[in-house]
Amino acid sequence: MSAAREHFGSRLGFILAAAGSAVGIGNLVAFPVAATKSGGGAFLLVYALFVFLICLPVMMAELALGRQSDKDPVGAYRQVSGGSIGWRIPGWFALITPFMIAVFYLVVTVWVLGYLVATLGGNLDQLAAGEHFGQFINSPIVFAYLVVLMLAINGILAMGVKDGIERAAKTLMPMLFVMLLGLVVFVLTQENAMLGVKYYLTPDLSKLNAEVVNNAMAQAFFSLSLGMGIMITYGSYMKKRDSIPGSAKAVALTDTLVAFTAGLLILPTIFHFNPQIDPTELSDSSAGMIFLFLPKIFLALQESIGYFGASAFAAVFFFLVLVAAITSLVSIIEVPVATLCDERGMERKKAIYSIAGVQFILAIACAVSFGMVGWLTEFMQVAGNTVSFFDLVELIFYSTILPLNGLLVCLFVIYKWKRANFDRELQEGDPSFAGSLSQKYVNFSLGTFIPLILLLVFINTVAEKYFGHSFF
Ligand code: PFF
Repeated sequence: MSAAREHFGSRLGFILAAAGSAVGIGNLVAFPVAATKSGGGAFLLVYALFVFLICLPVMMAELALGRQSDKDPVGAYRQVSGGSIGWRIPGWFALITPFMIAVFYLVVTVWVLGYLVATLGGNLDQLAAGEHFGQFINSPIVFAYLVVLMLAINGILAMGVKDGIERAAKTLMPMLFVMLLGLVVFVLTQENAMLGVKYYLTPDLSKLNAEVVNNAMAQAFFSLSLGMGIMITYGSYMKKRDSIPGSAKAVALTDTLVAFTAGLLILPTIFHFNPQIDPTELSDSSAGMIFLFLPKIFLALQESIGYFGASAFAAVFFFLVLVAAITSLVSIIEVPVATLCDERGMERKKAIYSIAGVQFILAIACAVSFGMVGWLTEFMQVAGNTVSFFDLVELIFYSTILPLNGLLVCLFVIYKWKRANFDRELQEGDPSFAGSLSQKYVNFSLGTFIPLILLLVFINTVAEKYFGHSFF
């Protein structure tokens, strides 16, 4: 007999935990870079439309599926489909995807931890030297950081849903908001900061092409932690009396506000460093930004606030990213943990140890694929490019499969579970939702154009990444 399912203690607890999942490296770095390179205010508008018109209904679908079934994603698909074999496949996708995304995200978070420690040790000047990153990620110290990070994350998970995940979110998320605002307020008082704000917010419609729109959609979907089984699992920890539409809106709004605010931090800092800069030339990758470019910018702050001040600024930034990444990792590792507990009846701690063991090995395989181990570094050829094991995991599970998972959730909820049942679940805890315009929109869009858009994003990604041919 398994113990009664744990639930989040309060609505605020759920919102903070889900926002903790949603707010991650994507918000703090990938979003400001994408907005900067893709038309500033025009991109912000397109992104906001995608979040609220496309992603929010998908989030409601995932949460409703989880809460109705009271299960992990594998169990949710099995139970709600009445055991149909075909519909079990999306359940498995919603398990393996978070498992593998966690692996590569762990590695990036290890690097953030390493940069935080180096900054606190007074070595910001070394981080700013271009060759440091390559040396650091290939040094054995990364294994020690991996152990520390996994102990912290699995320690939170071991305390359970309410005392672990919810309590950590209630402590860490307000801390993250305060640190982010503190850094923004500080940087806005610096010379040339307003040039950055202007660049960030001025709409440049000429940059809005099909590729930018496709990327904005993919970014919004990833940022809200959709297609990863997380919202299904967190939905199963929601109480029936809480409103799914209301809570989902709060999570989407928080996530978007944090992403927007991160832009108000990054752009002014860059322009303070170099008012003549052409930000469209910034690196596309988040890793390039965090580990190669930003340390240089932080170091340049020493001219106005001294080396100690610049190091303090950098340390708060790396800590902020670390906190955001840890709360995201907690949510994503909870998915396989919940699955082992629900599906195999395994005790929670045992499930955590088993998953941590496998993830540790896979994370090491990713970490050594930057030169330490040759065959993992040159793992295989994809569309004429040599990709490492790390690249491959990122390519399959992060770039490719997320929109597919989202598409399957929409089809499943509307056509297998059926509209009426989905509506009933959304009305539980929110009677005013019944018959509202929002309800009609959610119901219609999830059965029609949202899956279509996700299908297009999926097809385009496959064509581009595996065949080197982009449709738009
Ligand atoms: N919303 C997260 C982000 O923007 O970084 C997405 C995510 C990634 C969630 C990795 C969880 C995770 F482990």
